[in-house]
Amino acid sequence: MKILITGAAGQISYSLVPFLCERGIFASKEKLDLSLVEIPPAMKKLDGFVKELEDSAYSSVNSINTYDNINDAVLDADWCLLVGSIPRGVVLNGKEIKERADLLQINGGIFTEQGKAIGSKAKNNCKVLVVGNPANTNALIGYKNAKNPNQLWMAMTMLDALRAKAQVAKKLGCHVDDIYRLAIFGNHSPTMFPDLENSNVNGKNTYEQIGDHEWVENNFLPKIQQRGAEIIDARGASSASSAARAACDTVKNVEHKTRSGDVFNAAVLSDGSYDVAEGIFSGFPLISDGEGNIKIVRDFNLSEFAQSKIRKTSNELLEERELVKDLL
Ligand code: NAD
Ligand code: LMR
Repeated sequence: MKILITGAAGQISYSLVPFLCERGIFASKEKLDLSLVEIPPAMKKLDGFVKELEDSAYSSVNSINTYDNINDAVLDADWCLLVGSIPRGVVLNGKEIKERADLLQINGGIFTEQGKAIGSKAKNNCKVLVVGNPANTNALIGYKNAKNPNQLWMAMTMLDALRAKAQVAKKLGCHVDDIYRLAIFGNHSPTMFPDLENSNVNGKNTYEQIGDHEWVENNFLPKIQQRGAEIIDARGASSASSAARAACDTVKNVEHKTRSGDVFNAAVLSDGSYDVAEGIFSGFPLISDGEGNIKIVRDFNLSEFAQSKIRKTSNELLEERELVKDLL
């Protein structure tokens, strides 16, 4: 199994690579060939990380190679985890980058080149997870440039789902693992919509158990939508440990059959499900058959409230697509 990771010397990868090397993440028992990609100025730092990975002596790992460009790294890759990009919160040219969408012009260009390389050189059944922000539209740029519809492109919304589960578990005094069918719709941005109305806690409807729409709309929703900003404010850097855990969880959920009665979360190319415009990468509830096939779960009942929120986040994705149309 060849696993390519960009931004490999960054803070997310510092947790993500060790998580991926633990047993049981990938369905295949094959050992991992890690293909770690960075930009030239970060290669020395990456070499330091590789020394630590070697010192960790993972039984799951066959080889570790580093590259300063994706073209040499991507040949026959099974998975590509595209983390490499600039996070918000950093100051560029004397100006702080405040919203993930402000990263579109800065990071978008990275994904044209990477898309082309993945489409032509990675395996035909390669799975790609975009973590770098703005993740949904970066995935669209990569997918369009890859021109290889057999490959599965996704953007990460798993972190939003884990955040939502953690808040529900606190509110209801239950364990996160007892929460089923919690879906993130739309963009990984302040418009995302975490749906509780179709979720259940061990069979009992989550929204009804909370029984407080005011809390859902005015407390829960903004908390999940703004959690990334809350963490940047507190840490002075964007989420990393939780983002790495969510990326690893996405891989694991794609690789293994979804537990009965549940869904997992990622943004995929919309096929028009739930009236989300086709041709944008939107968060949807998904299931995996454990054999490399995932599909959108289509039996969620959406209230007027949910539909209006999903319209808003879809419109934002359409606006982002318009802004990068020259890259598609
Ligand atoms: P970081 O700055 O610590 O690391 C990013 C790394 O990417 C750096 O080492 C940089 O040298 C490298 N890089 C930049 N351009 C590259 C390129 N073209 N090819 C290969 N490597 C390249 O940032 P981080 O905290 O690890 O975050 C990475 C990205 O993930 C950011 O865009 C951040 O906003 C995003 N993020 C997304 C989510 C999500 O839920 N989708 C969550 C957290 C962070
Ligand atoms: C997050 O949600 O933590 C990341 O997308 C980082 C950010 O910019 O908020």
